[in-house]
Amino acid sequence: MNEERTDAAVAPTVARLAESPEIADFSKQLDDIFFTSSATKSFASDDERRAFRWRWLGRYLDADSDWFYVAVSGNRLVGYLAGAIDDPAQSGRFKDIAYFTEISAETGKYPAHLHVNVVEGFRSGGVGSRLIERFVSDLRAANIRGVHLVTGRHSRNIPFYLKNGFVPVKNITCGASESIMLGRPLNRG
Ligand SMILES: CC(C)(COP(=O)(O)OP(=O)(O)OC[C@H]1O[C@@H](n2cnc3c(N)ncnc32)[C@H](O)[C@@H]1OP(=O)(O)O)[C@@H](O)C(=O)NCCC(=O)NCCS
Repeated sequence: MNEERTDAAVAPTVARLAESPEIADFSKQLDDIFFTSSATKSFASDDERRAFRWRWLGRYLDADSDWFYVAVSGNRLVGYLAGAIDDPAQSGRFKDIAYFTEISAETGKYPAHLHVNVVEGFRSGGVGSRLIERFVSDLRAANIRGVHLVTGRHSRNIPFYLKNGFVPVKNITCGASESIMLGRPLNRG
């Protein structure tokens, strides 16, 4: 008798995208995760949608592909982490993101940054934490001092970052939006 196996029953593997076996329909699966996880759901035009994707995802694939990680279960992409290691307040290539100016005094201590998303149905199973740990382990090997991220000040994901070793660094107010920078130093244990 054939045993039924759900995707969730296959423990996801976590790897650098460059080291992962080829993933069928990778771009489509990645876009599905990105757009379903993003708080912004509607766009005035296709151009605006494309710009949004490039801003928060595409540029990391283009310029930081060594720091792009995937979680894969069977043939399914179930999560990703997009990372970058150069100080975003200094490098010039993130000038379009206003909040980096607000935290330019703090990013020197935490130069790397990340965006992480996991497919609904695979959340709360440790996949996001494993993506973070793999990134952090590679950052340590590369001698990077620290890593940060910016999220909503009241976001449901804050406990996830706290349990993964991040601490609140600075509250940011950009227009009407209230965000918070969380950082994890990497030079100690
Ligand atoms: C935040 C997220 C990446 C964590 O990945 P994960 O695989 O669920 O993480 P873990 O299993 O290691 O940790 C689980 C914790 O993540 C948080 N979490 C779970 N589901 C979440 C959701 N839908 N939204 C926000 N945070 C969530 C909770 O703190 C949870 O702890 P709990 O299980 O005790 O309630 C993932 O839940 C997700 O993609 N959420 C929606 C999008 C998001 O918030 N991305 C981060 C943008 S800064």
